[in-house]
Amino acid sequence: MSATTLNDFQSSAAELEHAASAAFSAADSADALEKARAEFLGRTSGRLLGLQRLVPSFEGPERGVAGRAFNELKKTLEGRLEARRTELESHARSAAPRTDLTMPSRRQFRGAEHPVTLVIEEIIEIFRGIGFTVATGPEAETEWYNFTALNFPPDHPAMDMHDTMYLADDVVLRTHTSPVQVRSLQAGPPPIRVVIPGNVYRLDPFDASHAPMFSQIEGLAVDDGISFVDLKATLTHFAQRFFGATRTRFRPSYFPFTEPSAEMDVECRLCKGTGCPACKGTGWMEILGAGMVHPNVLDAAGVDSERYTGWAFGMGPGRMAIQRYGIPDIRLLYDSDVRFLERVAR
Ligand code: DAH
Repeated sequence: MSATTLNDFQSSAAELEHAASAAFSAADSADALEKARAEFLGRTSGRLLGLQRLVPSFEGPERGVAGRAFNELKKTLEGRLEARRTELESHARSAAPRTDLTMPSRRQFRGAEHPVTLVIEEIIEIFRGIGFTVATGPEAETEWYNFTALNFPPDHPAMDMHDTMYLADDVVLRTHTSPVQVRSLQAGPPPIRVVIPGNVYRLDPFDASHAPMFSQIEGLAVDDGISFVDLKATLTHFAQRFFGATRTRFRPSYFPFTEPSAEMDVECRLCKGTGCPACKGTGWMEILGAGMVHPNVLDAAGVDSERYTGWAFGMGPGRMAIQRYGIPDIRLLYDSDVRFLERVAR
C-alpha cells in the first residue's frame, strides 16, 4: 500500500515544476543557474529525486501513471533549464564591453609638412606667379647630361667641385638639377620658363652643414633678347617676395654653364646686415648661383645660340629653410622627428 496517493504525487509534481521554473527564471548568472539546477535536478540530492523514489510505491496502472508524470516533469524542467541557459548566454554577449567608435582618441598624432617642402612650394608659387612652369628630370643621369652638355670640359677642375656618386661607368646620381636645363632645352623650342625642383647627390660627409643628398631648385628662362637685366630683375623680385623687403646684391662668380656668372646674396636675416656669426660677420647670406646660359649649353641641347639667349639659377631650399627658420643643424632636416617638424611648420 502506498503511503502517498496519486493525487498527492501529482500535486507535488506540480509544485516542484512551479518552484523549479521560478528558480531557473530567477537565476541571473551561469553560477546561479547551476545552483538551481543542482537543487532540483541534481543526480544525488536533487529535489526531483524525492519524487522519483515515490514511483515504485504505486501499484498496478497507478505506477505507470506516476512514472509517466515523473518523466514528463523531468523533461519539462530540463527544457526550461536549457532555455534559461541560452537566454543568459546571449545576455552576457550583448552586455560585453564594445568598442565605442564615437569616443574621441586620447592623443591626436598629426603629421606636419617638412620645412624644406614648404620652402620648395613657396618658391614654385612665386615663380608660377610670373609665368614659370615646373619641370622635373631623372636622378640618375649620364655624364653627358650632368657635365658634358653643361660645358664641363673633360677633366676640367670644375668637376672637382662635385664629388660624384657613380652608378656605372657613364651613369651618375646627378650632382645638381642643372642637367634638367638641358632636357628642357631639348624639349623646347623657346620661349622656355621653368623651375626644376629635385634631389641631388654628392659624396659629402654627413655633418652639421653637409648631407650626401639634398634638394635644389633650378630655374631657366630662354627666349629672344633675354638679358642680364631680366635675370637681376626676376631674382630680386623673388628675394623680395620670399624674404620680405630685403636688400640684395650680386657678386661675380664662375660656373662652366653660365657666362657671365653671379651669386646673389640677401641681407642676413638674423643681424639685418650688421654682421653676426651666422653670416660670418659679413652681413650677407648667399642664396643662389646664376648667370647667362653659356652658348655652348644652348648648342649642345640643339637650341640656336645665335638667336636665343637665356639665364639660369640654382638654389638650395634646404639652406633657405635653415636661414628662414634658424635651424642650427642640417641633420634636423633629415631626422623626421615629428616634434621638430611640428614646431617649424606653423
Ligand atoms: N648647379 C650649380 C650647383 O649645383 C648651381 C647653379 C649655379 C645652377 C648657377 C645654375 C646656375 O643654373 O646658373 O652648384
